[in-house]
Amino acid sequence: MDFTEETATAAVEASFAGTADPRLREILGSLVRHLHGFVREVEPTFGEWEAAVGFLTATGQRCDDQRQEFILLSDVLGVTMLVDAINHRKASEATESTVLGPFHMVESPPRELGDTIDLVGTGQPCVVTGQVRSLDGHPLGGALVDVWQADDHGFYDVQQPGGQPPGNGRGLFTCDDQGRFWFRTVTPSPYPIPTDGPVGGLLTATGRHPYRPAHIHLIVAAGGHLPVTTHIFVAGSPYLGSDAVFAVKQSLVRDFTEIDDPGQAAAYGVEAPFRHASFDVVLQPAG
Ligand code: BEZ
Ligand code: FE
Repeated sequence: MDFTEETATAAVEASFAGTADPRLREILGSLVRHLHGFVREVEPTFGEWEAAVGFLTATGQRCDDQRQEFILLSDVLGVTMLVDAINHRKASEATESTVLGPFHMVESPPRELGDTIDLVGTGQPCVVTGQVRSLDGHPLGGALVDVWQADDHGFYDVQQPGGQPPGNGRGLFTCDDQGRFWFRTVTPSPYPIPTDGPVGGLLTATGRHPYRPAHIHLIVAAGGHLPVTTHIFVAGSPYLGSDAVFAVKQSLVRDFTEIDDPGQAAAYGVEAPFRHASFDVVLQPAG
């Protein structure tokens, strides 16, 4: 039988019928049906098809061990957060997850509770405090809290090698026996995702802005519990309603309250006025 518009989809799906792994067979069948459906709907010209191949080629060519342009593409198309939503359907009181992002590419330096992750000192001082607990409320002493954030100008250390000290904005903290953690930093700012690659071109061509609302990243882990990859978002930040990667969840937004009290500032080892955010983390037991 000839390969025609009418027979194309069934023919390609049938070509995968011998796939031994049933999940792979299911995924490929669905991919073929949806991809062919997309092509039938759009009816691309050869020029448009070549442009699509060129875009995907350029996306791959921007990937290396420091940069993952395909994940960025997944992020701006909302695919990353859709996969996250599908994989965290269970209703629970546990802290919600959100996107990992491309900047957790180096180990965060271990730091003592109360240390600063800001190695530059130009931004507004900020103190973050919290407690890690299990779903039943018991504190998870010794939990690990890995944090990373952009500087007060919106750049991660790895984006400015030579400009920022390595490890600026990063820290790995071990909670005390009550699951408490606290650290000093600078108040985070909104910043654009990388726009100098094909994904930036896509945003420009479609009139979308590249900004993310101000946030601090965390991965929190404790024995016998599922780790969570999440953010603390700054209440009132620009772009909370239009995050370029669709990663805002209301449960993760916190007030970064301004405190102008020299006594409290001295207790945390910062200058007044400073900002304070409180963020408790609840982990689900594993298994
Ligand atoms: C970030 O927050 O670091 C980020 C997340 C997704 C894409 C780009 C950056
Ligand atoms: Fe970020």
